[in-house]
Amino acid sequence: MRGPVQREDWDRRYAEPNLLWSATPNRFLVREAIGLAPARALDLACGEGRNALWLADLGWHVTAVDYSSVAIEKARKRAAAEAAAIAFVCADLLEYEPERGAYELVLVLYLQLPAAERRLVLSRAAGALAPGGTFFLVGHDLTNLRDGVGGPSDPEVLYTPDDIVAEVPGLVVVKAERVLRDVADADRPAIDALVRARRPER
Ligand SMILES: C[S@@+](CC[C@H](N)C(=O)[O-])C[C@H]1O[C@@H](n2cnc3c(N)ncnc32)[C@H](O)[C@@H]1O
Repeated sequence: MRGPVQREDWDRRYAEPNLLWSATPNRFLVREAIGLAPARALDLACGEGRNALWLADLGWHVTAVDYSSVAIEKARKRAAAEAAAIAFVCADLLEYEPERGAYELVLVLYLQLPAAERRLVLSRAAGALAPGGTFFLVGHDLTNLRDGVGGPSDPEVLYTPDDIVAEVPGLVVVKAERVLRDVADADRPAIDALVRARRPER
């Protein structure tokens, strides 16, 4: 699909009864977050809540935001079934202003916006980190278009690890790299951009 996907498109996609994404958390998040001490987490563009649910199960107090009311409803149902106390917020990230300095972990997974919009969201995401807090982003890399599989076909919404690093000034970069993700029935892996960074202590 060319051009950024709109909220109505997401609502339509999420309207199917099955989960659009996996029930299990993103593998790279698991690898990076498993050792962190549970505290307050913010999941921006949470979709059906797979990552928020996993964090809540580990003891994190999670706020999870998405602008698709259909996705949020699905996520709420899953959280209720698992007795997970997640604060869901249905909001457009271009308008949503998270509390500054309030979260020990801020996640942005597979949010593919045009650069100007992404910059705005990422600057608020970085601002929401408490001192010492972890910023974690994974998304479809620009090189995925030619060398990978799946993901958006509009280069405007793809990015590189370096793009993301430039958009979170003030954070200490721990990792900025491309990672490969096996995809069922595909003859090659998907290529994701991954950035992990930390807000310095006061
Ligand atoms: C590919 S899904 C990823 C969902 C989730 N992060 C995951 O990894 O399972 C992208 C999500 O971004 C959300 N999204 C896109 N643009 C948004 C915006 N401007 N404000 C809030 N959510 C947005 C969509 O509704 C969708 O749920």
